[in-house]
Amino acid sequence: METDRLLRELTDFLRIPSVSTLPAHNADCRAAAEWVAGELRRLGCREVQFLASGTHPVVWGVGPDVPGAPTLLLYGHYDVQPPDPLAEWTTPPFEPTVRDGKLFARGSADDKGQVFCLLKAIEATGRPPVNLRFLIEGEEEHGSRVLFELLRREPERTRADVVLIADMSYVAPKWPAVYTTLRGLCYAEITVRTAKSDLHSGEFGGAAPNAHEELVRLLARLKTPDGKIHVPGLYSAVRRPSKAELATWKSLPFKEAEFLKHRVQARALTGLKAYSVLERLWALPTLEIHGIMGGFTGEGAKTVIPAEAKAKVSLRLVPDQKLKVVERQLTAAVKRLAPKYVQASIEFLHGADPATVKVTHPAFKLLDQAFREVVGRGTVPARAGGSIPVVPALGRSGAPVILTGIGLPDDRLHAPNEKLDLKQLWDGIRVFRRFYELLGTKGV
Ligand code: BES
Ligand code: MN
Ligand code: MN
Repeated sequence: METDRLLRELTDFLRIPSVSTLPAHNADCRAAAEWVAGELRRLGCREVQFLASGTHPVVWGVGPDVPGAPTLLLYGHYDVQPPDPLAEWTTPPFEPTVRDGKLFARGSADDKGQVFCLLKAIEATGRPPVNLRFLIEGEEEHGSRVLFELLRREPERTRADVVLIADMSYVAPKWPAVYTTLRGLCYAEITVRTAKSDLHSGEFGGAAPNAHEELVRLLARLKTPDGKIHVPGLYSAVRRPSKAELATWKSLPFKEAEFLKHRVQARALTGLKAYSVLERLWALPTLEIHGIMGGFTGEGAKTVIPAEAKAKVSLRLVPDQKLKVVERQLTAAVKRLAPKYVQASIEFLHGADPATVKVTHPAFKLLDQAFREVVGRGTVPARAGGSIPVVPALGRSGAPVILTGIGLPDDRLHAPNEKLDLKQLWDGIRVFRRFYELLGTKGV
């Protein structure tokens, strides 16, 4: 493989700061979409279009016609998460740099590097032996609203024999995986108001309510110190994984102590101690506080009682939980926990239902074979803690949705110094190339 050329091309893609959640980067998202469209044209696509281009466009492509061959839909995303805190990056997030066989850049693993891998695997086959369809979107990191609406209006876009998504990682080095569930997400902003406007903390302190105090008390009540979420009804739909599944997880190369020391890099793990860490990460709901806003946070000191405070929070949902139900449950919990004299409101920013995928379709065997031939080990079934909002919609036409990826668990997605190991990328190109060939020749 001409690795130098490929690295140059991927670097061009990664240089584009396509942060979908920040309007200041709208033009960059468009540029990243153009980059993808250019690649699709180079691959010989008969049709390359920007769909729903009012926002960050969904790039749609239709590959060369291969009569009689199965149809494979590739999904991925060209948008990335904000890169902050910038000071913690060893080299800047949008100046891709190779150190020690790893490519450091925002989006290197999530998901530009993996989209690149899927595309270059097609290029490597010369002429793709399958009928290819592409849906590469630019709003995944922001809830995929545009693609949802598109697929509701035009469900025929997902018509395919197999859907392939490479937006995940191996479960451990040398251990490729396919994922049987994704968690859902319920992202909200909670606002607390306690007075008409801010007040002098000397004149009023001791007698006036403080919005930050009320907000943090409310937030603290939403989860007990042992990790149980205090939202009535939240756990009623949660099912424990089967004994067999829990037993499989025990055989994975995952050590809780190592996870703490090398990946979390904190002093202790938290959460519901009665359950294993993998069960907490993969099969139980969570509640996280992402940020608290309001009051005085500038340099220096200001003596003020804030009248308003806001928090961004989210819940991860597990199979059988429903986003709409959880939204209602969280709203009720917030209303119930706020004292009468506090105005508490909640706004939902985006969300996703959890996804469940059966991995019994013959296409999974072909991917397993491709990994086995290239990497020396087939795919283990695992679950994922993260979310990809459109997965349930992509599977609605009945096609199996293969959730896999070429990343490694220490890629630091969404965090400073995100990276992709180049060996994973080169192997990945060979794996997907082999998968396309197997799908084309053996069929499903
Ligand atoms: N690629 C991730 C999802 C992922 C991460 C799956 C780790 C499995 C393991 C995806 O880009 C992502 O980050 N999704 C967001 C979705 C949200 C913003 C709606 C997430 O999970 O936070
Ligand atoms: Mn992703
Ligand atoms: Mn992501």
